[in-house]
Amino acid sequence: MHYGYFDDKKMEYVITRPDTPESWSNYLGSTEYGAIITNNAGGYGFYKSGADGRFLRVRFNSVPMDQPGRYIYIRDNENSDFWSASWQPVGKPLEEYESVCRHGTAYSVFESRYSKLHTETTYFVPLDQKFEYWKLRITNESDTKRSLSVFTYCEFANNWNTNQDLVNLQYSTFIVKGSRKDNMLRIITHENLLHSKSEDDSVMQCWMAMVGSQIDGYDTSRESFLGRYNGYHNPQAVSRGKCSDSDAYGDNACGSFQSNIVLNPGESKEILIMLGVGDTATEGNKAVAEFGSVERANKELAALKDNWHSKLSSFKVTTPDKEFNSTINVWGLYNCLINFFWSRSASLIYNGERNGLGFRDSVQDILGVAAAVPEEALKRVELMLTGQLANGGAIPVIKPFAHNPGHELPPDPQKLRSDDCLWFFNAVPAIVAETGDFDFYTKVLPYADKQEDTVLGHLRRALEFNLERRGKNGLPCGLHADWNDCLRLGYKGESLFVAFQLRYGLSVYEEICLKMGKTDEVSWAVKKREELEGCIQSVAWDGEWFIWAIGEDGTVYGTKEYDEGQIYLNTQVWAVISGAASKEQSSKCMESVKRLLATEYGLMLCAPPFKKTPIDVMRSVVFNAGIKENAGIFNHTQGWGVIAECILGNGDRAYEYCRANMPAAYNDKAQIRQMEPYVQGQTTYSSYSPRAGNSRVSWLTGAASWSYFSATQHILGIIPMYEGIKINPCIPSHWDKFTVARIFRGKALNIEVLNPQNVNKGVIEIFLNNETIKDNFISVEKLKSQNDIKVLLGK
Ligand code: NOJ
Repeated sequence: MHYGYFDDKKMEYVITRPDTPESWSNYLGSTEYGAIITNNAGGYGFYKSGADGRFLRVRFNSVPMDQPGRYIYIRDNENSDFWSASWQPVGKPLEEYESVCRHGTAYSVFESRYSKLHTETTYFVPLDQKFEYWKLRITNESDTKRSLSVFTYCEFANNWNTNQDLVNLQYSTFIVKGSRKDNMLRIITHENLLHSKSEDDSVMQCWMAMVGSQIDGYDTSRESFLGRYNGYHNPQAVSRGKCSDSDAYGDNACGSFQSNIVLNPGESKEILIMLGVGDTATEGNKAVAEFGSVERANKELAALKDNWHSKLSSFKVTTPDKEFNSTINVWGLYNCLINFFWSRSASLIYNGERNGLGFRDSVQDILGVAAAVPEEALKRVELMLTGQLANGGAIPVIKPFAHNPGHELPPDPQKLRSDDCLWFFNAVPAIVAETGDFDFYTKVLPYADKQEDTVLGHLRRALEFNLERRGKNGLPCGLHADWNDCLRLGYKGESLFVAFQLRYGLSVYEEICLKMGKTDEVSWAVKKREELEGCIQSVAWDGEWFIWAIGEDGTVYGTKEYDEGQIYLNTQVWAVISGAASKEQSSKCMESVKRLLATEYGLMLCAPPFKKTPIDVMRSVVFNAGIKENAGIFNHTQGWGVIAECILGNGDRAYEYCRANMPAAYNDKAQIRQMEPYVQGQTTYSSYSPRAGNSRVSWLTGAASWSYFSATQHILGIIPMYEGIKINPCIPSHWDKFTVARIFRGKALNIEVLNPQNVNKGVIEIFLNNETIKDNFISVEKLKSQNDIKVLLGK
């Protein structure tokens, strides 16, 4: 069953059935003025912080999950019938009501057709502005004159701190005020704050303006508009056809304008709503004076689209797989960019309280966007490097607005995670290879708490951190946690995942130092790597796979000998990725993955699920079996499975894993996955649950960057290197050919890969601008501004 389709030309996902199994959302605006909007115009908005800047309210975990939102109601004054310009909240029968929602890049458009009236409403935040547009066009498609009323509605938070707003009602419901002056509504919370926090005049003030139509009424009191016993589906004002011109004074505030319009047959009218934060008299009026026309709104929309589309033009692919193409060309990268900007802060699941950049996730997010926004990605790498502590660990959350490198308080040593800075060995070389600025390794940056060092020095410190914290078997300790938030091994318990990451880090460090001519450092890294490999090999191989971890008390996890969590995905795939596994171990452990962890919806994180293991060791035991870290399909890890299979040359299997976890592949069976078919989710129920295939926690997840990275760099095999670009695809054998258009250091690469022998892997020849290249590497000196690259695969 499908609810919509991909329109790749317009870079939109078009939802043609509004009764989707979950609310399918989109992002508008920026982290400065952020907005979430769903396919039924539900959602919220915030200024700078989802937790402390929440000006538009949504009630989390409600039914439906996205109310209220940014609503427009239409009332037919001849017969008192009314509906909304998005299917919900009124929810007319779908036999009579046609609805199309087009989610695009930072804008969403809603079309409705009901009672021979057509509406089109476009929502977006113009670039670099602190307000949003709702642009409505309403057309009379009947052959009679229609007398209508249009009502707007949104619900303001009483207090911009979302917790205060939703639960501290004895306080928050007494501080709000609403009023109207001319075509402007003013909502202000706690007027006194204006005097005490004058440095930011946006403090808890909102304005809403209506442009292009006369105003026949308004409400700023929610209770007056909705009525006490009505609801969003039948507001009192709409049902009786008249707002009450209410000024909120306590209780709750809303933004409603009423405009009565008459439309002749075939006639259209455009109305503009502007909603922003800041002082009405200054910022509101200024925004309306400058931006308050439909022409200007159209211009702003075009500029917004250009801005996003140019970011998405860094990598374009055409393969025989349409869904793969939609994923790589539009939604996979858009999803990566949203993760990069928003981290894990605000969605319909994250309510904004995660104010800041979670360390490990944000470092990994860089991988997905390095090609699209190299400068911003580089800045983020620098920011994260300054979140590293002088002891090599990291502060768990970086607050970009407040971060003060050199002066941050280090966390309690018991709270340090073991993996945080090891992700630098993926992200830093990736961005250096993208930009080609190898000198970045010599740039001096401060640590979070004290001291400074070159980037190379930061990397060494990261390695030392784990080398200095090793357990009885010489393997790195899990500390407070490794990647798996649920694992509690005891501070000195040993994590094999971290051991593999450390092994990978040492080899990356070795390579950088070799290029820098630092022979002592190379010898150091080689020695440490070999020692570590010895420790790994002496305890970690379980016969058919690698173990998971060794607790402080000596308990071995992830072994045949233990009933629960016998096999763990991450240690198999990272044994391969890190290069620690021998050839034989690699193929054996990945066969075990296939046999014991692969399902049609992706690879389970472990199996069988935990039921009896004490919660103080394995917190995932609280989750129902078959979800999240308890034998669920943890989507963050799926790209690693793809990479490991590509390293082994198994293109068919890599592609199988890639598609199992590709949202677009579920478009025509959307009822299974339930979530948006255009973005990743954190987790999918596995076959250990009664709901295999259902996915949850959409948009903000490490699955976005790793799925995009594994598809572009390992399946398609277009790999930026320090000195050029390597082309090493590992594709499904049935692909006869594919093309990629990629921008690399400002140069256009137009790559055509031919696979006449239907192999998975193996570059026979490359022609660069008609010159034959010996191996599969093209040095940057050979590139012109436009490059025609033909690649022949075969045996
Ligand atoms: C979600 C967290 O955001 C991520 O950092 C972590 O690695 C996974 N949970 C796995 O536990």
